[in-house]
Amino acid sequence: PASYTDRFRASVRDRDATPATPRRTQDRTTETPAIGERFRNEPDTDPSLPANRDWALRAIAAPAPPVREPEVTDPRAVDAVVERAAASPWGDRPARERAAVLREAARALAAARGELLTVMVGEAGKTIAEADPEISEAVDFAAYYADRAEELEDAPFTPDRVVVVTPPWNFPIAIPLGGCVAALAAGASVVVKPAPQVRACAEAGVAALHRGGIPADALQLVHTDEGAAGRRLVTHPAVDHVVLTGASSTAALFRSWRPDLRLVAETSGKNALVVTPSADPDLAVADLVRSAFGHAGQKCSAASLAILVGPMRSTRTPAGARFHRQLVDAVRTLRVGHGSDPSTTMGPLIGPPGEDLERALTRLDRGERWLVEPRHLGGTTWSPGVKEPVAAGSWFHRTECFGPVLGLMHAADLDEALALQNATGYGLTGGLHALDPDEIAHWSERVEVGNAYVNRHITGAIVQRQSFGGWKGSVVGPGAKPGGPNYVAQFGTWHDGPLDA
Ligand code: ALA
Repeated sequence: PASYTDRFRASVRDRDATPATPRRTQDRTTETPAIGERFRNEPDTDPSLPANRDWALRAIAAPAPPVREPEVTDPRAVDAVVERAAASPWGDRPARERAAVLREAARALAAARGELLTVMVGEAGKTIAEADPEISEAVDFAAYYADRAEELEDAPFTPDRVVVVTPPWNFPIAIPLGGCVAALAAGASVVVKPAPQVRACAEAGVAALHRGGIPADALQLVHTDEGAAGRRLVTHPAVDHVVLTGASSTAALFRSWRPDLRLVAETSGKNALVVTPSADPDLAVADLVRSAFGHAGQKCSAASLAILVGPMRSTRTPAGARFHRQLVDAVRTLRVGHGSDPSTTMGPLIGPPGEDLERALTRLDRGERWLVEPRHLGGTTWSPGVKEPVAAGSWFHRTECFGPVLGLMHAADLDEALALQNATGYGLTGGLHALDPDEIAHWSERVEVGNAYVNRHITGAIVQRQSFGGWKGSVVGPGAKPGGPNYVAQFGTWHDGPLDA
């Protein structure tokens, strides 16, 4: 078999190594989750079945549970948590046994779908359409990494002792639980520190994993801030690895606390979708709106820019006029509200906009005009905005704003579009809408992003099919991609080759 180093290199080169597995749909009220010995993606809830609709309506009408765990501010309390994790016998269990527990944990997560939906909608305001697939993704992570755990049986591999997982608020179930089950699959114990905005979500997810058989000492949750206790969590000598999904500035903070920290970090993005004249305009508009305004644009993977090529950039050409009209109509017909209202298609912001988002929502730069002007609808709810033309090298071209504002850029040809797309400083996701095979080949060879999508929305990577992660300013550390073949194997030490390949 290939050495770990070769497999790692292959995964970096090969963005979508594994074949597609079709997703099925199922009736939530009668079918049991089908997590078996061989990985299949967990199906999302099929909302066309009346029973599922009733089930989902009940789930989003229920009140979210309160946060139960107190915030820890004393570094000595963090020491106790980390030391308990370090002493857990979890890593001594055979890999096959860990895999069996993780499969049971995946079943427990799938069985908790209703309560997880309740807490995600109640605490984060997510819509059903955004929350339900995220639960599938968390189940997928547990089941997929169970298979990866099995591959470690008899491998020359020593798991990390303790891995700390510090997730963001925007995927309050999939990202924290994904990090936890990956490290657990490797044989490490885990301490997860949830984002403060979504503590109840993390508590519900971790409780489901415990119900599935993950031992309480091997997976612990602790609420802290970035004060002394948070710093202790990252700098405790028994912590071998930190998994961060969040801002580049947080990665820099962690490094300033501990320069030798082994950090797996997926950081920021500024993602663009290119639309050429050969695109199917109906598909392009639908995928663009979904990518830009799903979860109110608060995804690291979201489309913040659309780069319109040739005649598409001008409303004086028939193709360009049609595209602009359709886009504006589609954005204006989004139903903005809270996820607990089932007619909502775009939910609220997680909190008051930060400085960059505030600027993006309320100001135009030189030459830009609103095609759809965002409006503050009260509380943390804003309607979506579209502006044009965003100039090359401008503030909006290169700043991640994390909210419901889409900027349209203009390019004379595909090469100019690629130059704009590759000049954001980041490299997380990117898309192309084009039906011309030469354009697709040309773009695919040259786009500098971790997840490149053709004729598809650019959010919502699916475990095994599209392992997720970026390059350039979007990643820190060697980090194999979550949802891909080598993610689990980085949480430990290999005795057959270096990890720093
Ligand atoms: N994995 C998430 C997505 O692909 C961030 O949208």
